[in-house]
Amino acid sequence: MPAFIDSHCHLADPAFDVDRDDAVARARSAGAVALVCIGESPAMAARARELAVRHAGFVWYTAGVHPHDAASFDPIGDLEGLRDEIAQGAIALGECGLDYHYDHSPRDQQRRAFAAQLALAAEYRLPVVVHSREAADDTAAMVREAGAAGVVGILHCFSGPAALADVGLAAGWYVSFSGIITFKKWADDALLRLPPADRLLVESDAPYLAPVPYRGKRNEPAYVSQTVAKLAEARGLSADRLGAVVSENAVRCFNLPVAT
Ligand code: NI
Repeated sequence: MPAFIDSHCHLADPAFDVDRDDAVARARSAGAVALVCIGESPAMAARARELAVRHAGFVWYTAGVHPHDAASFDPIGDLEGLRDEIAQGAIALGECGLDYHYDHSPRDQQRRAFAAQLALAAEYRLPVVVHSREAADDTAAMVREAGAAGVVGILHCFSGPAALADVGLAAGWYVSFSGIITFKKWADDALLRLPPADRLLVESDAPYLAPVPYRGKRNEPAYVSQTVAKLAEARGLSADRLGAVVSENAVRCFNLPVAT
């Protein structure tokens, strides 16, 4: 059974209120050696922290403000909340970024909230988990600038374009693939071969984006093994080897005290 680290799951989401600890146990049984639970708001980060405390050594957590919520981003209160989570053990900023598909928040406010979190990542020398949808040009510009300031991050749930991956990789960033790459409509295996082996990550993005054959169901970290299998096939590696690679990468990227 291939090992893996789920670099991005939303286990604090209410979708897991009925079986959160069981989902963690199932992930472990499926080969997970660690889970990174995303706190996409200060409030969700506090819930993610509780889970990380309860599963110390297996679950870690992040703290950020999602682009959907950028309109209500408070540069004083929210940043104070994020600093507080970092002091309590958050291992990364995010998820943050730009979403011009939904445009739930005005774009200039999205950029402002994203920039503030990139600055925090630079200050604390922490990685940053980045969400980008239909915003590749602006994301690339901000990633390039952050990279120049020494920030390393993750292009999460990556599905293109390749030009954005190129900018991220040039800045020393990682590319994380989700269950999307198992969907029937996925037609870009070349993209799966683009990042060098030492920059590859996998994620569930649970409860969203369940991979085939669980598509349409609630997703959970255990299902990342399907994504590992698909990525391994596309890159001509065994699933065991690919799983070892993505685990080593996650340990390095997030600076996790985990043996792989
Ligand atoms: Ni997410």
